[in-house]
Amino acid sequence: MLRIDDFSTFKKVATPFYYYDIDLFEKTADKVAELSERTGIKVHFSIKANSDRRLNDILSSKGLGADCVSGDEIEFAVTCGYAPKDIFFAGVGKTDREICQAFQVGIGAFVVESLEEIQIISDIARRLGRKATISLRINPNIDPHTHHYITTGLYEDKFGISDRSFDEAAAMVTTDPNIDFYGLQFHIGSQILEVADVIKLECEKVNDIVSRFESNGVVIRNIDLGGGLGIDYDDPDRNPIADFETWFMTIHNNLKHRPDQTVHIEPGRSLVAQCGSLISQVLYVKKGENRNFLMIDAGMNDLIRPALYGAYHKIENLSAHYDDNDGRDNPVYDVVGTVCE
Ligand SMILES: Cc1ncc(COP(=O)(O)O)c(C=O)c1O
Repeated sequence: MLRIDDFSTFKKVATPFYYYDIDLFEKTADKVAELSERTGIKVHFSIKANSDRRLNDILSSKGLGADCVSGDEIEFAVTCGYAPKDIFFAGVGKTDREICQAFQVGIGAFVVESLEEIQIISDIARRLGRKATISLRINPNIDPHTHHYITTGLYEDKFGISDRSFDEAAAMVTTDPNIDFYGLQFHIGSQILEVADVIKLECEKVNDIVSRFESNGVVIRNIDLGGGLGIDYDDPDRNPIADFETWFMTIHNNLKHRPDQTVHIEPGRSLVAQCGSLISQVLYVKKGENRNFLMIDAGMNDLIRPALYGAYHKIENLSAHYDDNDGRDNPVYDVVGTVCE
């Protein structure tokens, strides 16, 4: 059950709203900072997972960097105190305007998804008289054993450069005078729960791919394994902090890298999801022909995940828990929101 110290004050806030447990958030961020220190693995928060100002201020103050997928996210990251060199710009669809914005801010690296994109960024760098620091996003063709809507590292996915294009991509980034080649990035999917097995497999594949590039004389300065650590949606109270220990240690024990090669990860959901709750109010109960509908004042526009791909999201009745239980007999309802999906 969500921990609320003063429920009567809480009830005065207009719904719907997002509530963040800042204590839990600090503990989660501290755990990640401690593991980063212990293993040397650098952490960039994937801002698409949450763009709340206060949460991002906290993460930047703990030394994390930012993984951004738009020009607006880059601008936002700077205002939250992330150092520009610790901001990476990823994503399959960067516009020319956003690429120029990234140069202006002086970000650490572009994570590039295709041969076509390498050319576009190189052309813009030349026009601006700049050099683009570039990592290649690799599609390693690994099944992360998660929901098929959130797998990103299989051949059928739109992301990354697959092995058929490695040689061409390597030639482009190492011979182009407008490009400073930085490293390789791998993000295979989200909500990964078979952490030890899947991440070990990912590391083994990454080891092979890195040595394939290096045997062709390509110097890899950075290896970025993306995000993907899953959280316990079924019982958030049982596991309020995701299994960062297994994630970091599996990488630490299985990824081969030289001391001068930096290693990155980019957690999104695992840093923020367990700390946030969407608080909504029941407007009325509609007795339908076959079902009872609990009409609440939040909809898919406030929380898209369940409607988008049928994902489970736990719902708790706070009034029944915090106000004295007035004999409600736990009937079954369909909880429905204000928009059609
Ligand atoms: C490139 C990249 N990095 C990191 C993440 C964050 O993933 P997660 O929220 O599963 O940790 C994503 C999510 O889509 C991503 O596409």
